[in-house]
Amino acid sequence: MLLKALAVLGRLGALTSSILVLGLNARFLTGSSWLRVFVIYIEVVAAVSVIAALIPPYPNFLYDSFWAAAWIVAAIFALVVQFGESNCYGLQPESPIRCAAYEAATAFAFLALLAWLGCAFLGGLRILALVANVGDRYWGRPLYLGATKDDETVPQEKLRKVDGIGNTHIARWFICYGLLGVTLLAVGIPILILYAAPSFALYLISNLVIPSNIRIELRNPANDSIGVGLESDVRVPAASAVTFSPMNVSFFFGDDSGDYVDRSIASVALPELNYGSETHFTIPEQRLKLEDIDAFAHFIEAVAFKPSFVLGGRARAKIMIGRISTCVDLDKKVEFTGFNSFPTLNITEMNIEDPDEDGYNLHATVAIDNPTRASATLGNVTLGLNVGNITLGNLEVTISNITTGVNIFPVQAKLNITNIQENMETILATEIPYLRNEEILASASVISIVYEGLHLEFWEQAFGRLEVTLKRPIRPLVKALLDGGFLGVGGSLVEGVLATILENVKSMSEDDLDDYIARLSELADRVLGLLETMDIL
Ligand SMILES: *[C@@H]1O[C@H](CO)[C@@H](O)[C@H](O)[C@H]1NC(C)=O
Ligand SMILES: *[C@@H]1O[C@H](CO)[C@@H](O)[C@H](O)[C@H]1NC(C)=O
Ligand SMILES: *[C@@H]1O[C@H](CO)[C@@H](O)[C@H](O)[C@H]1NC(C)=O
Repeated sequence: MLLKALAVLGRLGALTSSILVLGLNARFLTGSSWLRVFVIYIEVVAAVSVIAALIPPYPNFLYDSFWAAAWIVAAIFALVVQFGESNCYGLQPESPIRCAAYEAATAFAFLALLAWLGCAFLGGLRILALVANVGDRYWGRPLYLGATKDDETVPQEKLRKVDGIGNTHIARWFICYGLLGVTLLAVGIPILILYAAPSFALYLISNLVIPSNIRIELRNPANDSIGVGLESDVRVPAASAVTFSPMNVSFFFGDDSGDYVDRSIASVALPELNYGSETHFTIPEQRLKLEDIDAFAHFIEAVAFKPSFVLGGRARAKIMIGRISTCVDLDKKVEFTGFNSFPTLNITEMNIEDPDEDGYNLHATVAIDNPTRASATLGNVTLGLNVGNITLGNLEVTISNITTGVNIFPVQAKLNITNIQENMETILATEIPYLRNEEILASASVISIVYEGLHLEFWEQAFGRLEVTLKRPIRPLVKALLDGGFLGVGGSLVEGVLATILENVKSMSEDDLDDYIARLSELADRVLGLLETMDIL
């Protein structure tokens, strides 16, 4: 009677918890992404469990054990969902549902598990009680457990039975099932830890969405390496700890095409990393060693020109979570936003003047949007500025702590006026198709990269293979130039001339263009010559 009363209480607990879990997870279902399957599993178990909790007899060992097992999985999934889909540990900073809701859902999943486990335990007690013949007036006498009605050797009053399908059978073969249970546990638990846990961890890691609060810092470049550090707002859950044994991570270009897929572009040897309860995941600065120069150059190209690129990472990692240690072969690809040919690169100020003592005759301010989560310091970068095959001059820029978002920095250039003058016709011929769209074309490629007085050879070679070609509207560019004081009051005249030229180019047929280019370049040549004699250039 007492067992029955307790079991009813247990089932009521299971019922209530299931209803709450059902309700809470229904909210997560709308917002959930990659962990949707887990949420669906929890929902199904909770929904069926609501009805299942009402089905007698109470307790019912096999039946309650079955539900306890289903809830063990559901409770683990609830933990995973709480970790991966909420902002409790910084993994989903944009989650619209508060962390408390996830915590409650996990807590009730564990309560439901406990309730079913409790019932199963009571069911087990009932079987044990029968086996031990507790409270039986034939105490000490042989038992006829689970003997069937048609077993004539057994007197009717000694026939015993435990309510619920299969329980009587278990009681009858108690020793056998007991041994089987112990064996299964002894074999099952190591198998779970050795095989199931790592593959589950691997599944989670390979699907994990990298949160936006991760920041990567690249600094202290050397010939063929750069310092890399990582910071994030992702926290270790309270009262747990995570340790990564030392590992070598190699990175590769993950876009599924071409010859570069499996070639390591860089690698880093990580030391042992320990994260205690509630600490943030960070990695102090490590040396990232550049490896395959072709693959690296190809990778940089994707970063610069594509809207997004895929970076892959591989490592054999030994991870310890609490006391459990597991070895996983990590192989993860993550898609990042690329620079997409720099659509937002903007020249905000520009000034052409007499060469200063270092020979720079162009000073400009450039705004560039860094869409990646990395900040970088690379040193002084010298670029060759070209139109078609003609070199306009050298451009210099200091890449120093370029952070995520808009960065504004100065650029200076040595324009080779003589060369421009001599090749004016070729330059204009290249530009005319763009001028028709009121655009101007220029390309740049890296000539040298110097950090703290040292040439970064490897970087120079890799970047040197890259030519960035940009088209920009010409009017704002000229306006920036004139606003900068170029030509002083003559500015408005130049704007007028430019407008006329643009109109002419637009309306002109192909045949007339050649002639126009010739005349235009003659004019430009004379203007440049004039500017030079006037000491403006
Ligand atoms: C730079 O690195 C490359 C590739 O590792 C190497 O071949 C070269 O000798 C290095 N140069 C200097 C100056 O250290
Ligand atoms: C990492 O690679 C280096 C050099 O290849 C090797 O000596 C070291 O044992 C590796 N470390 C691990 C943890 O595999
Ligand atoms: C400018 O270009 C001309 C022709 O290519 C070249 O001879 C000259 O050395 C260049 N001047 C500078 C300062 O680079």
